[in-house]
Amino acid sequence: MPIQVLTSDVANKIAAGEVVERPASVVKEIVENAIDADSTSVNVDLRAGGKRLIKISDNGIGMSREDALIATERHATSKINKIEDLESIQTFGFRGEALPSIASVSKLELLTRTADQLEGTKITIEGGNVQSVEESGCSPGTHLSVKNLFYNVPARLKFLKTETTEMNHINNQVMWAALAHPSIAFSLRHNDRSLLNVRVCESVIERVRLLYSKDLAEGLIEIESEQSSFKIHAFIGNADLTKSNRNYQLFFLNRRPIRSKVVSAALNEAMQSFIAKGRYAVA
Ligand SMILES: Nc1ncnc2c1ncn2[C@@H]1O[C@H](COP(=O)(O)OP(=O)(O)OP(=O)(O)O)[C@@H](O)[C@H]1O
Ligand SMILES: [Mg+2]
Repeated sequence: MPIQVLTSDVANKIAAGEVVERPASVVKEIVENAIDADSTSVNVDLRAGGKRLIKISDNGIGMSREDALIATERHATSKINKIEDLESIQTFGFRGEALPSIASVSKLELLTRTADQLEGTKITIEGGNVQSVEESGCSPGTHLSVKNLFYNVPARLKFLKTETTEMNHINNQVMWAALAHPSIAFSLRHNDRSLLNVRVCESVIERVRLLYSKDLAEGLIEIESEQSSFKIHAFIGNADLTKSNRNYQLFFLNRRPIRSKVVSAALNEAMQSFIAKGRYAVA
């Protein structure tokens, strides 16, 4: 076959495969956008494990009509504009890939308004093609509905797991975001049932109490340490609070959840003389 440049439709769908693997990836990207937009409240509402509907509403800075129209184009971002910006990123996003990727593999409705606009903008997109752009009333912030994810990518659709499995992944994403951002209120609903609902908190400990339990929050010891190039802020469970697996060990780097064998091993080594064999610290 001769070499040809792919049409933007094909290129977008391929790029979408890298960003959107499952409903939880959509939730992660949209929640990160809401956090980048200075929201103090983020509400996630789902149907059928996010396969039928993912609705996420924030009260952040919103977008003007002009910005909303560009936001769903590839490589459109307000977060960086020159190569040096990559060295000092303060936001979650920077690629300008998330919204166009999600839009190309779903039926998307974007409703958004800035605080100083009277009317909001509603844009509907199907499989990456803009269907309509109209004025529409809404509260300041951004309200996204992602319907029928992968309706036009049968191979992806086939590999989605059960509602329960997809919900577990989504639940993790929202829990991690809620732990890393205590000053933002979060709610998560699935099929009209509330799974998580936490108000704005003053501290991580208060957030832990709301997300887990009073006992767990009270058993944590707060540690803060500063080196020349990094700061550590940790919460480590006392010796009475151990678990039989590592599921209660979470690590974040710049508020992003990470997995790190090195940090995990350091924690275990530091704690091993305080806790019984086969038990794991909460952190
Ligand atoms: N909830 C939101 N509130 C306000 N502006 C938003 C919101 N979501 C997206 N935007 C705007 O749309 C742009 C495109 O969003 P998108 O997620 O596609 O890219 P990004 O966040 O810049 O980078 P990345 O692809 O790494 O997430 C953002 O840069 C931002 O300006
Ligand atoms: Mg983004």
